[in-house]
Amino acid sequence: MKLSVLQHYKQTLASALADALSCPLTEVEKHLKPAEEAHGDFALPMFAWAKLAQKPPAQLAAEVAPQVCAPGMEVKATGPYINARICPMPFAAEVLLATKQQGENYGAGTSGAGKTVVIDFSSPNIAKPMAFHHIRSTVIGNALANLYRSQGWKVVGINYLGDWGKQFGLVAEGFGLFGEEAQKHSMQHLVEVYIKANAKAEAEPEFDAKARAFFARMEAGEAKALALWQELREASLLEFKALYARLGIHFDLYEGESFYQNKMEGLIEEISNTVGTRLSEGALIVNLPYAEAEPPVLLKKNDGSTLYATRDLAAAVDRFNRFGFDKCLYVVAADQSLHFRQCFFVLEKMQKAWAPRLTHVPFGRVHGMSTRKGQLHLLSEVLDEAKTRALEKVKENIAQGKIHTEAPEELAEQIGCGAIVFGDLKNRRTTDYVFEWEELLSFEGHTGVYVQYAHARALAILQKAAESGSPHVDALSFAHALKLPEEQSLLRWVARLPQLVEEAVEQNEPSFVARWLLEGAAAFSRWYTLGNQDRSKRVLVEENPPVRSARLLLVEAVCTALGSGLRLLGVFAPRRM
Ligand code: ARG
Repeated sequence: MKLSVLQHYKQTLASALADALSCPLTEVEKHLKPAEEAHGDFALPMFAWAKLAQKPPAQLAAEVAPQVCAPGMEVKATGPYINARICPMPFAAEVLLATKQQGENYGAGTSGAGKTVVIDFSSPNIAKPMAFHHIRSTVIGNALANLYRSQGWKVVGINYLGDWGKQFGLVAEGFGLFGEEAQKHSMQHLVEVYIKANAKAEAEPEFDAKARAFFARMEAGEAKALALWQELREASLLEFKALYARLGIHFDLYEGESFYQNKMEGLIEEISNTVGTRLSEGALIVNLPYAEAEPPVLLKKNDGSTLYATRDLAAAVDRFNRFGFDKCLYVVAADQSLHFRQCFFVLEKMQKAWAPRLTHVPFGRVHGMSTRKGQLHLLSEVLDEAKTRALEKVKENIAQGKIHTEAPEELAEQIGCGAIVFGDLKNRRTTDYVFEWEELLSFEGHTGVYVQYAHARALAILQKAAESGSPHVDALSFAHALKLPEEQSLLRWVARLPQLVEEAVEQNEPSFVARWLLEGAAAFSRWYTLGNQDRSKRVLVEENPPVRSARLLLVEAVCTALGSGLRLLGVFAPRRM
Protein backbone atom coordinates (compact mmCIF):
# COMPACT_ATOMS: atom_id res chain seq x y z
CA MET A 1 0.00 0.00 0.00
CA LYS A 2 1.28 3.42 -0.92
CA LEU A 3 1.71 5.68 2.08
CA SER A 4 0.94 9.37 2.09
CA VAL A 5 3.60 11.84 3.17
CA LEU A 6 2.32 12.03 6.74
CA GLN A 7 1.80 8.31 7.03
CA HIS A 8 5.33 7.82 5.84
CA TYR A 9 6.70 10.01 8.60
CA LYS A 10 4.55 8.29 11.13
CA GLN A 11 5.77 4.89 10.05
CA THR A 12 9.44 5.96 10.11
CA LEU A 13 8.96 7.35 13.57
CA ALA A 14 7.14 4.27 14.82
CA SER A 15 9.96 1.96 13.75
CA ALA A 16 12.56 4.26 15.24
CA LEU A 17 10.63 4.31 18.52
CA ALA A 18 10.21 0.54 18.48
CA ASP A 19 13.97 0.19 18.02
CA ALA A 20 14.79 2.59 20.81
CA LEU A 21 12.32 0.92 23.14
CA SER A 22 13.20 -2.62 21.98
CA CYS A 23 9.56 -3.51 21.62
CA PRO A 24 7.31 -4.74 18.81
CA LEU A 25 6.24 -2.14 16.25
CA THR A 26 2.57 -2.89 16.88
CA GLU A 27 2.94 -1.79 20.51
CA VAL A 28 4.21 1.61 19.43
CA GLU A 29 1.57 1.92 16.71
CA LYS A 30 -1.11 1.31 19.28
CA HIS A 31 -0.02 4.29 21.38
CA LEU A 32 1.39 6.75 18.87
CA LYS A 33 -0.94 9.67 18.21
CA PRO A 34 -1.03 13.22 16.88
CA ALA A 35 0.54 15.72 19.26
CA GLU A 36 -0.97 18.94 20.45
CA GLU A 37 0.18 21.58 18.02
CA ALA A 38 2.58 23.26 20.44
CA HIS A 39 4.43 19.98 20.93
CA GLY A 40 5.00 18.93 17.36
CA ASP A 41 3.35 16.37 15.13
CA PHE A 42 3.36 13.09 17.03
CA ALA A 43 3.31 12.04 20.64
CA LEU A 44 4.03 8.76 22.34
CA PRO A 45 2.95 8.55 25.99
CA MET A 46 5.47 6.58 28.03
CA PHE A 47 3.13 5.21 30.69
CA ALA A 48 2.92 1.62 29.45
CA TRP A 49 6.70 1.32 29.08
CA ALA A 50 7.39 3.14 32.33
CA LYS A 51 5.37 0.54 34.15
CA LEU A 52 7.42 -2.27 32.59
CA ALA A 53 10.71 -0.51 33.30
CA GLN A 54 9.51 0.53 36.77
CA LYS A 55 10.65 4.10 36.18
CA PRO A 56 8.76 7.38 36.25
CA PRO A 57 7.39 8.06 32.73
CA ALA A 58 9.13 11.43 32.45
CA GLN A 59 12.49 9.88 33.31
CA LEU A 60 12.05 7.14 30.74
CA ALA A 61 10.98 9.66 28.09
CA ALA A 62 14.11 11.73 28.77
CA GLU A 63 16.31 8.64 28.52
CA VAL A 64 14.80 7.22 25.37
CA ALA A 65 14.24 10.38 23.29
CA PRO A 66 17.92 10.94 22.42
CA GLN A 67 18.15 7.37 21.14
CA VAL A 68 15.33 7.73 18.65
CA CYS A 69 16.76 8.08 15.20
CA ALA A 70 14.04 9.33 12.87
CA PRO A 71 15.28 11.17 9.78
CA GLY A 72 13.48 14.38 8.94
CA MET A 73 12.11 14.71 12.44
CA GLU A 74 13.19 16.35 15.65
CA VAL A 75 12.53 14.11 18.64
CA LYS A 76 12.46 15.23 22.25
CA ALA A 77 10.94 14.45 25.60
CA THR A 78 8.20 16.63 27.04
CA GLY A 79 7.17 15.41 30.45
CA PRO A 80 5.91 11.82 30.15
CA TYR A 81 5.76 12.02 26.34
CA ILE A 82 8.19 11.57 23.53
CA ASN A 83 7.29 14.15 20.92
CA ALA A 84 8.39 14.39 17.34
CA ARG A 85 8.18 17.38 15.08
CA ILE A 86 8.57 17.06 11.34
CA CYS A 87 11.36 19.30 10.04
CA PRO A 88 10.31 21.90 7.46
CA MET A 89 12.48 20.26 4.84
CA PRO A 90 12.16 17.91 3.05
CA PHE A 91 8.55 17.75 4.32
CA ALA A 92 7.46 20.91 2.46
CA ALA A 93 8.89 19.66 -0.81
CA GLU A 94 7.26 16.25 -0.37
CA VAL A 95 3.83 17.72 0.26
CA LEU A 96 4.09 20.06 -2.71
CA LEU A 97 5.22 17.22 -4.93
CA ALA A 98 2.47 14.86 -3.78
CA THR A 99 -0.27 17.35 -4.61
CA LYS A 100 1.34 18.18 -7.93
CA GLN A 101 1.62 14.55 -8.91
CA GLN A 102 -1.83 13.49 -7.82
CA GLY A 103 -3.65 16.62 -8.87
CA GLU A 104 -7.41 16.04 -8.91
CA ASN A 105 -6.94 12.68 -7.22
CA TYR A 106 -5.11 14.08 -4.26
CA GLY A 107 -6.29 12.12 -1.22
CA ALA A 108 -6.78 8.88 -3.12
CA GLY A 109 -5.58 5.65 -1.59
CA THR A 110 -5.55 1.92 -2.16
CA SER A 111 -6.97 0.48 1.05
CA GLY A 112 -10.11 -0.66 -0.76
CA ALA A 113 -8.42 -2.27 -3.76
CA GLY A 114 -10.18 -5.46 -4.75
CA LYS A 115 -13.11 -4.84 -2.44
CA THR A 116 -16.73 -4.07 -3.23
CA VAL A 117 -19.13 -1.92 -1.28
CA VAL A 118 -22.83 -1.66 -1.99
CA ILE A 119 -24.27 1.67 -0.88
CA ASP A 120 -28.02 1.94 -0.59
CA PHE A 121 -28.81 5.65 -0.48
CA SER A 122 -31.35 8.35 -1.22
CA SER A 123 -34.11 5.80 -1.82
CA PRO A 124 -37.08 8.17 -1.80
CA ASN A 125 -40.63 6.97 -1.87
CA ILE A 126 -42.47 7.48 -5.07
CA ALA A 127 -45.70 9.44 -4.76
CA LYS A 128 -45.04 10.32 -1.15
CA PRO A 129 -43.59 13.64 -0.05
CA MET A 130 -39.82 13.68 -0.09
CA ALA A 131 -38.87 14.17 3.52
CA PHE A 132 -35.77 15.69 5.06
CA HIS A 133 -34.28 12.28 5.59
CA HIS A 134 -34.08 11.63 1.87
CA ILE A 135 -32.05 14.79 1.44
CA ARG A 136 -29.64 13.68 4.12
CA SER A 137 -29.41 10.18 2.75
CA THR A 138 -28.79 11.54 -0.74
CA VAL A 139 -25.89 13.78 0.17
CA ILE A 140 -24.30 11.54 2.80
CA GLY A 141 -24.60 8.50 0.56
CA ASN A 142 -23.12 10.30 -2.41
CA ALA A 143 -20.18 11.58 -0.35
CA LEU A 144 -19.57 8.08 0.97
CA ALA A 145 -19.66 6.67 -2.54
CA ASN A 146 -17.01 9.22 -3.58
CA LEU A 147 -14.89 8.57 -0.52
CA TYR A 148 -14.94 4.79 -0.91
CA ARG A 149 -14.21 5.05 -4.61
CA SER A 150 -11.22 7.27 -3.89
CA GLN A 151 -9.76 4.52 -1.73
CA GLY A 152 -9.98 1.98 -4.51
CA TRP A 153 -13.27 0.31 -3.57
CA LYS A 154 -15.59 -0.83 -6.29
CA VAL A 155 -18.77 1.02 -5.42
CA VAL A 156 -22.26 -0.09 -6.37
CA GLY A 157 -24.56 2.80 -5.59
CA ILE A 158 -28.16 1.69 -5.43
CA ASN A 159 -31.26 3.81 -5.25
CA TYR A 160 -33.70 1.54 -3.49
CA LEU A 161 -36.80 3.47 -4.42
CA GLY A 162 -39.86 3.11 -2.26
CA ASP A 163 -41.87 2.11 -5.30
CA TRP A 164 -44.02 -0.64 -3.87
CA GLY A 165 -46.52 -0.62 -1.09
CA LYS A 166 -49.85 0.65 0.07
CA GLN A 167 -49.10 4.24 -0.88
CA PHE A 168 -49.78 3.33 -4.49
CA GLY A 169 -53.17 2.09 -3.49
CA LEU A 170 -53.77 5.43 -1.83
CA VAL A 171 -52.65 7.43 -4.82
CA ALA A 172 -54.51 5.23 -7.28
CA GLU A 173 -57.77 5.30 -5.34
CA GLY A 174 -57.24 8.94 -4.38
CA PHE A 175 -56.66 10.00 -7.94
CA GLY A 176 -60.25 9.39 -8.92
CA LEU A 177 -61.35 11.75 -6.14
CA PHE A 178 -58.67 14.43 -5.98
CA GLY A 179 -56.60 14.02 -9.09
CA GLU A 180 -56.44 15.96 -12.30
CA GLU A 181 -55.83 13.89 -15.37
CA ALA A 182 -53.74 16.61 -17.00
CA GLN A 183 -51.34 16.62 -14.06
CA LYS A 184 -51.00 12.90 -13.78
CA HIS A 185 -47.31 13.07 -14.52
CA SER A 186 -46.39 15.75 -12.04
CA MET A 187 -44.81 14.37 -8.94
CA GLN A 188 -45.92 17.42 -7.00
CA HIS A 189 -49.51 16.72 -7.91
CA LEU A 190 -49.23 13.06 -6.99
CA VAL A 191 -47.85 14.05 -3.63
CA GLU A 192 -50.84 16.32 -3.07
CA VAL A 193 -53.16 13.48 -3.99
CA TYR A 194 -51.31 11.19 -1.63
CA ILE A 195 -51.60 13.62 1.25
CA LYS A 196 -55.35 14.00 0.76
CA ALA A 197 -55.89 10.29 0.26
CA ASN A 198 -53.83 9.50 3.32
CA ALA A 199 -55.95 11.81 5.45
CA LYS A 200 -59.11 10.28 4.04
CA ALA A 201 -57.87 6.77 4.75
CA GLU A 202 -57.15 7.71 8.33
CA ALA A 203 -60.67 9.00 8.78
CA GLU A 204 -62.50 6.34 6.78
CA PRO A 205 -61.63 2.67 7.24
CA GLU A 206 -63.52 1.74 4.04
CA PHE A 207 -61.28 3.97 1.98
CA ASP A 208 -58.22 2.55 3.66
CA ALA A 209 -59.43 -0.95 2.81
CA LYS A 210 -59.83 0.09 -0.82
CA ALA A 211 -56.25 1.31 -0.95
CA ARG A 212 -55.00 -1.90 0.58
CA ALA A 213 -57.02 -3.89 -1.89
CA PHE A 214 -55.48 -1.96 -4.74
CA PHE A 215 -52.00 -2.80 -3.53
CA ALA A 216 -53.01 -6.44 -3.04
CA ARG A 217 -54.10 -6.45 -6.70
CA MET A 218 -50.68 -5.08 -7.67
CA GLU A 219 -48.99 -7.85 -5.75
CA ALA A 220 -51.25 -10.39 -7.37
CA GLY A 221 -50.01 -9.10 -10.73
CA GLU A 222 -53.24 -7.57 -12.03
CA ALA A 223 -52.35 -5.91 -15.32
CA LYS A 224 -54.56 -2.84 -14.95
CA ALA A 225 -53.31 -2.00 -11.49
CA LEU A 226 -49.74 -2.53 -12.58
CA ALA A 227 -50.11 -0.32 -15.64
CA LEU A 228 -51.21 2.62 -13.52
CA TRP A 229 -48.45 1.98 -11.03
CA GLN A 230 -45.90 1.88 -13.86
CA GLU A 231 -47.09 5.19 -15.22
CA LEU A 232 -46.87 6.94 -11.87
CA ARG A 233 -43.53 5.41 -11.13
CA GLU A 234 -42.00 6.53 -14.38
CA ALA A 235 -43.23 10.08 -14.00
CA SER A 236 -41.75 10.35 -10.53
CA LEU A 237 -38.51 8.77 -11.60
CA LEU A 238 -38.01 11.34 -14.33
CA GLU A 239 -38.27 14.11 -11.78
CA PHE A 240 -35.94 12.41 -9.34
CA LYS A 241 -33.37 11.95 -12.05
CA ALA A 242 -33.46 15.61 -12.99
CA LEU A 243 -32.85 16.43 -9.37
CA TYR A 244 -29.91 14.09 -9.06
CA ALA A 245 -28.43 15.53 -12.23
CA ARG A 246 -28.68 18.95 -10.67
CA LEU A 247 -26.63 17.74 -7.72
CA GLY A 248 -24.22 15.83 -9.91
CA ILE A 249 -25.25 12.55 -8.31
CA HIS A 250 -25.19 9.25 -10.10
CA PHE A 251 -26.56 5.83 -9.19
CA ASP A 252 -25.28 2.61 -10.65
CA LEU A 253 -28.67 1.04 -10.23
CA TYR A 254 -32.23 2.07 -9.63
CA GLU A 255 -33.60 -1.01 -7.97
CA GLY A 256 -36.49 -0.23 -5.76
CA GLU A 257 -38.70 -2.36 -3.62
CA SER A 258 -40.75 -3.40 -6.62
CA PHE A 259 -37.69 -5.09 -8.04
CA TYR A 260 -38.25 -7.79 -5.45
CA GLN A 261 -41.92 -8.44 -6.06
CA ASN A 262 -41.34 -11.89 -7.51
CA LYS A 263 -38.43 -12.81 -5.29
CA MET A 264 -40.43 -12.78 -2.11
CA GLU A 265 -41.81 -16.32 -2.16
CA GLY A 266 -38.31 -17.77 -2.57
CA LEU A 267 -37.09 -15.75 0.36
CA ILE A 268 -39.99 -16.76 2.57
CA GLU A 269 -39.34 -20.37 1.70
CA GLU A 270 -35.70 -20.04 2.63
CA ILE A 271 -36.63 -18.49 5.94
CA SER A 272 -39.11 -21.31 6.59
CA ASN A 273 -36.38 -23.85 5.91
CA THR A 274 -33.80 -22.21 8.10
CA VAL A 275 -35.17 -20.15 10.96
CA GLY A 276 -38.79 -21.16 10.49
CA THR A 277 -41.96 -19.12 10.18
CA ARG A 278 -45.30 -19.20 11.92
CA LEU A 279 -48.69 -17.57 11.81
CA SER A 280 -49.62 -14.98 14.35
CA GLU A 281 -53.11 -13.45 14.18
CA GLY A 282 -53.23 -14.30 10.52
CA ALA A 283 -49.89 -12.71 9.73
CA LEU A 284 -46.79 -14.64 8.77
CA ILE A 285 -43.86 -13.93 11.08
CA VAL A 286 -40.32 -15.19 11.49
CA ASN A 287 -40.27 -17.89 14.11
CA LEU A 288 -37.93 -16.48 16.67
CA PRO A 289 -38.31 -16.59 20.44
CA TYR A 290 -40.46 -13.61 21.29
CA ALA A 291 -37.86 -11.86 23.42
CA GLU A 292 -35.18 -12.19 20.76
CA ALA A 293 -37.21 -10.77 17.94
CA GLU A 294 -39.33 -8.29 19.80
CA PRO A 295 -41.34 -6.93 18.12
CA PRO A 296 -41.90 -9.87 15.78
CA VAL A 297 -40.55 -9.67 12.24
CA LEU A 298 -43.52 -9.67 9.89
CA LEU A 299 -43.17 -11.23 6.46
CA LYS A 300 -46.77 -11.08 5.31
CA LYS A 301 -49.81 -9.27 6.57
CA ASN A 302 -53.05 -11.12 7.09
CA ASP A 303 -54.20 -10.04 3.61
CA GLY A 304 -51.15 -11.80 2.19
CA SER A 305 -49.27 -8.66 1.16
CA THR A 306 -45.57 -8.42 1.91
CA LEU A 307 -43.83 -5.80 3.99
CA TYR A 308 -40.88 -3.46 3.98
CA ALA A 309 -38.82 -5.99 5.96
CA THR A 310 -39.68 -8.85 3.59
CA ARG A 311 -38.39 -6.84 0.68
CA ASP A 312 -35.25 -5.69 2.46
CA LEU A 313 -34.41 -9.28 3.36
CA ALA A 314 -34.85 -10.35 -0.24
CA ALA A 315 -32.76 -7.42 -1.42
CA ALA A 316 -29.86 -8.22 0.91
CA VAL A 317 -29.71 -11.84 -0.25
CA ASP A 318 -29.95 -10.83 -3.89
CA ARG A 319 -27.25 -8.16 -3.53
CA PHE A 320 -24.86 -10.56 -1.94
CA ASN A 321 -25.47 -13.14 -4.64
CA ARG A 322 -24.82 -10.63 -7.37
CA PHE A 323 -22.03 -8.48 -5.98
CA GLY A 324 -20.36 -10.60 -3.30
CA PHE A 325 -19.92 -7.38 -1.38
CA ASP A 326 -17.35 -6.86 1.36
CA LYS A 327 -19.59 -4.22 2.85
CA CYS A 328 -23.18 -3.18 2.29
CA LEU A 329 -24.18 0.19 3.69
CA TYR A 330 -27.70 1.41 4.28
CA VAL A 331 -27.66 5.17 4.52
CA VAL A 332 -30.99 5.58 6.25
CA ALA A 333 -32.37 7.75 9.08
CA ALA A 334 -31.73 6.63 12.63
CA ASP A 335 -35.50 6.14 13.06
CA GLN A 336 -35.16 2.93 11.14
CA SER A 337 -32.55 1.37 13.42
CA LEU A 338 -34.94 -1.25 14.72
CA HIS A 339 -35.90 -2.28 11.21
CA PHE A 340 -32.28 -2.88 10.24
CA ARG A 341 -31.37 -4.58 13.49
CA GLN A 342 -34.20 -6.97 12.85
CA CYS A 343 -33.31 -7.62 9.22
CA PHE A 344 -29.65 -8.21 10.06
CA PHE A 345 -30.65 -10.49 12.92
CA VAL A 346 -32.86 -12.62 10.72
CA LEU A 347 -30.11 -12.95 8.11
CA GLU A 348 -27.69 -14.02 10.80
CA LYS A 349 -30.16 -16.64 11.99
CA MET A 350 -30.49 -17.79 8.39
CA GLN A 351 -26.76 -18.58 8.68
CA LYS A 352 -25.70 -15.97 6.19
CA ALA A 353 -21.99 -15.74 6.92
CA TRP A 354 -21.95 -12.30 5.33
CA ALA A 355 -24.57 -10.81 7.64
CA PRO A 356 -21.90 -8.95 9.65
CA ARG A 357 -20.94 -7.08 6.49
CA LEU A 358 -24.27 -5.24 6.51
CA THR A 359 -24.13 -1.86 8.17
CA HIS A 360 -26.85 0.60 8.89
CA VAL A 361 -25.30 4.08 8.54
CA PRO A 362 -27.83 6.13 10.49
CA PHE A 363 -28.16 9.88 10.64
CA GLY A 364 -30.03 12.38 12.79
CA ARG A 365 -32.90 14.70 12.05
CA VAL A 366 -33.06 18.15 10.55
CA HIS A 367 -35.21 20.66 12.33
CA GLY A 368 -36.77 23.83 11.04
CA MET A 369 -36.60 23.08 7.36
CA SER A 370 -39.14 25.19 5.57
CA THR A 371 -39.24 27.63 2.70
CA ARG A 372 -40.74 31.06 2.51
CA LYS A 373 -43.88 29.41 1.29
CA GLY A 374 -44.15 27.13 4.28
CA GLN A 375 -43.51 23.48 4.69
CA LEU A 376 -41.18 21.73 2.28
CA HIS A 377 -42.23 18.74 0.36
CA LEU A 378 -39.69 18.27 -2.35
CA LEU A 379 -35.95 18.47 -2.48
CA SER A 380 -36.23 20.47 -5.67
CA GLU A 381 -38.03 23.17 -3.72
CA VAL A 382 -35.21 23.36 -1.23
CA LEU A 383 -32.70 23.67 -4.03
CA ASP A 384 -34.74 26.32 -5.84
CA GLU A 385 -35.02 28.33 -2.70
CA ALA A 386 -31.30 27.94 -2.03
CA LYS A 387 -30.56 29.20 -5.50
CA THR A 388 -32.88 32.18 -5.14
CA ARG A 389 -31.29 33.16 -1.87
CA ALA A 390 -27.80 32.59 -3.22
CA LEU A 391 -28.58 34.82 -6.17
CA GLU A 392 -29.49 37.66 -3.85
CA LYS A 393 -26.16 37.23 -2.08
CA VAL A 394 -24.27 37.00 -5.33
CA LYS A 395 -25.83 40.23 -6.55
CA GLU A 396 -24.99 41.96 -3.27
CA ASN A 397 -21.40 40.79 -3.51
CA ILE A 398 -21.11 41.82 -7.12
CA ALA A 399 -22.34 45.27 -6.21
CA GLN A 400 -19.73 45.49 -3.46
CA GLY A 401 -17.03 44.33 -5.83
CA LYS A 402 -16.37 41.23 -3.74
CA ILE A 403 -17.12 38.73 -6.44
CA HIS A 404 -16.80 38.83 -10.17
CA THR A 405 -18.76 36.68 -12.53
CA GLU A 406 -20.33 36.83 -15.96
CA ALA A 407 -22.79 34.10 -15.07
CA PRO A 408 -24.49 35.01 -11.78
CA GLU A 409 -27.34 32.51 -12.29
CA GLU A 410 -25.02 29.61 -12.77
CA LEU A 411 -22.89 30.67 -9.86
CA ALA A 412 -25.97 31.01 -7.67
CA GLU A 413 -26.99 27.47 -8.57
CA GLN A 414 -23.56 26.16 -7.59
CA ILE A 415 -23.51 28.14 -4.38
CA GLY A 416 -27.09 27.22 -3.53
CA CYS A 417 -26.66 23.49 -4.09
CA GLY A 418 -23.27 23.62 -2.40
CA ALA A 419 -24.80 25.30 0.63
CA ILE A 420 -27.35 22.54 1.07
CA VAL A 421 -24.90 19.72 0.54
CA PHE A 422 -22.08 21.19 2.60
CA GLY A 423 -24.44 22.47 5.27
CA ASP A 424 -25.54 18.93 5.82
CA LEU A 425 -22.20 17.20 5.59
CA LYS A 426 -20.37 19.45 8.01
CA ASN A 427 -22.48 18.00 10.82
CA ARG A 428 -21.60 14.74 12.40
CA ARG A 429 -23.86 12.25 10.78
CA THR A 430 -25.71 11.15 13.87
CA THR A 431 -26.39 14.53 15.39
CA ASP A 432 -29.58 16.42 14.72
CA TYR A 433 -29.20 19.89 13.38
CA VAL A 434 -31.26 22.97 12.78
CA PHE A 435 -31.65 24.09 9.21
CA GLU A 436 -31.15 27.84 9.00
CA TRP A 437 -30.96 29.59 5.71
CA GLU A 438 -28.80 32.46 6.90
CA GLU A 439 -26.31 30.11 8.42
CA LEU A 440 -26.08 27.94 5.33
CA LEU A 441 -25.43 30.80 2.97
CA SER A 442 -23.11 33.06 4.89
CA PHE A 443 -19.99 34.02 2.99
CA GLU A 444 -18.04 34.25 6.24
CA GLY A 445 -19.34 31.33 8.23
CA HIS A 446 -18.80 27.61 8.35
CA THR A 447 -20.35 27.18 4.97
CA GLY A 448 -19.90 25.63 1.59
CA VAL A 449 -19.64 29.02 -0.05
CA TYR A 450 -16.82 29.98 2.31
CA VAL A 451 -14.82 26.98 1.10
CA GLN A 452 -15.84 27.51 -2.52
CA TYR A 453 -14.68 31.08 -2.21
CA ALA A 454 -11.29 30.08 -0.81
CA HIS A 455 -10.85 27.66 -3.67
CA ALA A 456 -11.80 30.22 -6.31
CA ARG A 457 -9.55 32.71 -4.61
CA ALA A 458 -6.60 30.34 -4.88
CA LEU A 459 -7.35 29.80 -8.55
CA ALA A 460 -7.50 33.53 -9.12
CA ILE A 461 -4.09 34.03 -7.53
CA LEU A 462 -2.63 31.32 -9.73
CA GLN A 463 -4.20 32.82 -12.78
CA LYS A 464 -2.94 36.27 -12.00
CA ALA A 465 0.55 34.87 -11.56
CA ALA A 466 0.30 32.99 -14.82
CA GLU A 467 -0.72 36.16 -16.62
CA SER A 468 2.37 37.93 -15.36
CA GLY A 469 4.40 35.07 -16.75
CA SER A 470 5.53 32.99 -13.81
CA PRO A 471 8.31 30.63 -14.78
CA HIS A 472 7.73 26.97 -14.15
CA VAL A 473 9.44 26.08 -10.90
CA ASP A 474 10.12 22.77 -9.28
CA ALA A 475 9.08 22.13 -5.73
CA LEU A 476 12.36 20.70 -4.50
CA SER A 477 14.39 23.79 -5.09
CA PHE A 478 11.94 26.30 -3.67
CA ALA A 479 10.07 24.64 -0.82
CA HIS A 480 12.67 25.71 1.74
CA ALA A 481 11.53 29.30 1.26
CA LEU A 482 8.22 28.54 3.02
CA LYS A 483 9.27 29.76 6.43
CA LEU A 484 6.24 31.51 7.90
CA PRO A 485 4.42 29.56 10.63
CA GLU A 486 1.21 30.06 8.63
CA GLU A 487 2.88 28.35 5.68
CA GLN A 488 4.07 25.46 7.78
CA SER A 489 0.63 24.91 9.18
CA LEU A 490 -0.97 25.09 5.75
CA LEU A 491 1.43 22.41 4.55
CA ARG A 492 0.43 20.22 7.46
CA TRP A 493 -3.19 20.86 6.70
CA VAL A 494 -2.70 19.77 3.08
CA ALA A 495 -0.78 16.69 4.20
CA ARG A 496 -3.63 15.48 6.40
CA LEU A 497 -6.14 14.72 3.65
CA PRO A 498 -5.11 11.17 2.67
CA GLN A 499 -5.26 9.86 6.23
CA LEU A 500 -8.44 11.75 6.87
CA VAL A 501 -10.21 10.18 3.91
CA GLU A 502 -9.24 6.75 5.20
CA GLU A 503 -10.73 7.59 8.55
CA ALA A 504 -13.85 9.01 6.96
CA VAL A 505 -14.28 5.70 5.15
CA GLU A 506 -13.63 3.62 8.24
CA GLN A 507 -16.24 5.52 10.20
CA ASN A 508 -18.57 6.38 7.32
CA GLU A 509 -18.24 9.98 8.36
CA PRO A 510 -17.99 12.59 5.57
CA SER A 511 -18.02 15.37 8.17
CA PHE A 512 -14.31 14.72 8.77
CA VAL A 513 -13.58 16.02 5.30
CA ALA A 514 -16.02 18.92 5.60
CA ARG A 515 -14.46 20.10 8.86
CA TRP A 516 -11.01 19.78 7.41
CA LEU A 517 -12.09 21.94 4.47
CA LEU A 518 -13.33 24.64 6.82
CA GLU A 519 -10.05 24.63 8.70
CA GLY A 520 -8.07 24.88 5.50
CA ALA A 521 -10.18 27.66 4.03
CA ALA A 522 -9.70 29.65 7.24
CA ALA A 523 -5.95 28.97 7.38
CA PHE A 524 -5.59 29.93 3.76
CA SER A 525 -7.41 33.20 4.19
CA ARG A 526 -5.35 34.03 7.29
CA TRP A 527 -2.22 33.46 5.28
CA TYR A 528 -3.05 35.44 2.18
CA THR A 529 -4.34 38.40 4.17
CA LEU A 530 -1.04 38.65 6.10
CA GLY A 531 0.23 40.68 3.17
CA ASN A 532 -2.29 43.43 3.93
CA GLN A 533 -0.20 44.39 6.95
CA ASP A 534 3.23 43.39 5.80
CA ARG A 535 4.25 43.64 2.16
CA SER A 536 6.97 41.02 2.54
CA LYS A 537 4.28 38.51 3.42
CA ARG A 538 2.30 39.00 0.25
CA VAL A 539 1.78 35.80 -1.69
CA LEU A 540 2.81 37.44 -4.95
CA VAL A 541 5.73 39.24 -3.36
CA GLU A 542 7.57 40.72 -6.33
CA GLU A 543 10.78 41.76 -4.72
CA ASN A 544 11.66 38.22 -3.72
CA PRO A 545 11.30 35.84 -6.65
CA PRO A 546 12.29 32.58 -4.88
CA VAL A 547 9.80 33.22 -2.07
CA ARG A 548 7.17 34.21 -4.61
CA SER A 549 7.69 30.95 -6.47
CA ALA A 550 7.52 28.91 -3.31
CA ARG A 551 4.33 30.65 -2.22
CA LEU A 552 2.76 30.05 -5.58
CA LEU A 553 3.50 26.38 -5.20
CA LEU A 554 1.78 26.44 -1.85
CA VAL A 555 -1.27 28.19 -3.31
CA GLU A 556 -1.40 25.50 -5.94
CA ALA A 557 -1.22 22.76 -3.33
CA VAL A 558 -3.95 24.40 -1.26
CA CYS A 559 -6.09 24.82 -4.34
CA THR A 560 -5.66 21.16 -5.23
CA ALA A 561 -6.47 20.08 -1.71
CA LEU A 562 -9.58 22.27 -1.45
CA GLY A 563 -10.73 21.11 -4.87
CA SER A 564 -10.26 17.45 -3.98
CA GLY A 565 -12.07 17.82 -0.70
CA LEU A 566 -15.04 19.57 -2.30
CA ARG A 567 -15.21 17.00 -5.05
CA LEU A 568 -15.18 14.14 -2.55
CA LEU A 569 -18.13 15.67 -0.76
CA GLY A 570 -20.02 16.25 -3.97
CA VAL A 571 -19.90 20.04 -3.70
CA PHE A 572 -19.31 22.07 -6.86
CA ALA A 573 -16.12 24.10 -6.96
CA PRO A 574 -16.83 27.18 -9.14
CA ARG A 575 -13.70 28.30 -10.95
CA ARG A 576 -14.50 31.95 -10.66
CA MET A 577 -16.27 33.88 -7.95
N1 ARG B 1 -37.79 4.31 1.13
C1 ARG B 1 -37.37 4.25 2.51
C2 ARG B 1 -37.91 5.44 3.26
O1 ARG B 1 -38.23 6.42 2.68
C3 ARG B 1 -35.88 4.22 2.66
C4 ARG B 1 -35.25 2.97 2.09
C5 ARG B 1 -33.92 2.73 2.68
N2 ARG B 1 -33.30 1.54 2.18
C6 ARG B 1 -33.60 0.32 2.52
N3 ARG B 1 -32.97 -0.68 1.98
N4 ARG B 1 -34.57 0.07 3.37
O2 ARG B 1 -38.01 5.42 4.46
